[in-house]
Amino acid sequence: MTAAGLLGDIAGVGADPRRGGFSRHGFDQSELELREWFRAEAVARGLDVETDRNGTMWAWWGPPADGAVVTGSHLDSVPGGGAYDGPLGVTSALVAVDLLRARGFVPGKPLAIAVFAEEEGGRFGVACLGSRLMTGAIDPDAARRLTDPDGVTLADAVRAAGLDPAGLGPDPVAMARIGVFVELHVEQGRGLVDLGAPVGVAGSILAHGRWRFSFAGEGNHAGATLLTDRRDPMLPAAQVVLAARRAAAGIEGARATVGKVVPNPGGTNVIASTVDVWLDARAEDDFRTRAVVAEISDAARGAAEEEGCTVTVTEESYGDTVIFDPALRDDLATTLGGVPALPTGAGHDAGILAAHLPTAMLFVRNPTGISHAPAEFAEAGDCTAGAVALADVLAHLAR
Ligand code: GLV
Ligand code: MN
Ligand code: MN
Ligand code: MN
Repeated sequence: MTAAGLLGDIAGVGADPRRGGFSRHGFDQSELELREWFRAEAVARGLDVETDRNGTMWAWWGPPADGAVVTGSHLDSVPGGGAYDGPLGVTSALVAVDLLRARGFVPGKPLAIAVFAEEEGGRFGVACLGSRLMTGAIDPDAARRLTDPDGVTLADAVRAAGLDPAGLGPDPVAMARIGVFVELHVEQGRGLVDLGAPVGVAGSILAHGRWRFSFAGEGNHAGATLLTDRRDPMLPAAQVVLAARRAAAGIEGARATVGKVVPNPGGTNVIASTVDVWLDARAEDDFRTRAVVAEISDAARGAAEEEGCTVTVTEESYGDTVIFDPALRDDLATTLGGVPALPTGAGHDAGILAAHLPTAMLFVRNPTGISHAPAEFAEAGDCTAGAVALADVLAHLAR
């Protein structure tokens, strides 16, 4: 079976006809279905599967032990996401095991595939939730209280999935198991297309985070309320969208996005009483990222005051620039015959783990350059090249 073929096997799970693409979120029905699919695929390969207390699935080739060579990714998606972001890393890991077995490879070190929960934060709002919990990058009490759009807390969701919410949090035992982590991922830009290469290694990840702007005004009637009598929180909310583009455009390499706006109560003929606006901001370093957010926050506060509204700004998650282990990056690039190294603006569990242990990523060419959308793509041949590269890398690291 090929990596693209395995993606075809799960194409019916979490398909979202309303948004297009896939909506698979941490511990929801479709993600739980994918977990069972992964368990069956791993068991069929003779791997031993366990789920740790943060909901990370581990499939072990040989007995679990410290210092293992670990690969993997995630099975959840953004709302209406593509087929490749996450699952390609998981299917490629399974195929890499097949390739290594076919080569008669005998691991000299323990090998495992890890599948992290809620990498996109599409349900509970915090990206890389599983790896943040494991590494201690998020307070477990705050995490347990995270709430999905239906009001379900993370604590309730993990309990429903058969985990004990009290077990969420830093896991030094699981951390010690990872000697080195390599995540294969579809590229989320056109870097490899421009270089004419099917596979590359990651160099760095932009500093990035998520901020929530909560505006409060006065709910009222859209027809009966004079313009002069309004305190409409949608006006300062709109200024966040405009300020985001303006602020990012003023700083080399910065990006700022408003992808989610929730007015309450959300009626066409209703002036909203509150509006929540989520900002995703990224830049080369901490200083630039914070400068972008500060400029947008100033604009939000000014616009709120002008409209007689209030605003609170909450940092929901943040991570500084990641520079992947240069020695490991160069070692893997050489192992693969000199493939290019690329920076990325996208966040990954590998980026969270990079603060604690040697971590690397392999990217597979994406001809559309599009990601977090249904047009995300990788040619089947490039997926195979990626799985072979991953097998080569695992063989090298676990020799
Ligand atoms: C996750 O994919 C992110 O970069 O937002
Ligand atoms: Mn993603
Ligand atoms: Mn991903
Ligand atoms: Mn990601």
